[in-house]
Amino acid sequence: MPKFIAVTPATTIKTGRVKPFSVGGHNLLIANVEGRYYAMEDRCSHEDSPLSLGCLKGELIDCTLHGSRFNVKTGIPVEEPAVEPVKTFRVRIKDDMIEIELGNL
Ligand code: FES
Repeated sequence: MPKFIAVTPATTIKTGRVKPFSVGGHNLLIANVEGRYYAMEDRCSHEDSPLSLGCLKGELIDCTLHGSRFNVKTGIPVEEPAVEPVKTFRVRIKDDMIEIELGNL
């Protein structure tokens, strides 16, 4: 059975915003895209820069170091130099809390 971990109240991440969190020793970001929440590793697959430093535009977040952009729903880069996807995590809202499933990290 999947194990979800409560991370933060949903109200702390406004629409169009992203925030970094440390969960179980892993650095993650949670993004709010039009009221839906998405979680992914907070580490660019190019040279490890934190993606939470970048701007969220729609469902894309940019890496501030060399300009790659990733889809926060899928973790897939849509612009080079990054070519490898970033790991994403399942998210659910329970009792107004954002919960994520770390899976086999
Ligand atoms: S570290 Fe993100 S594009 Fe280079």
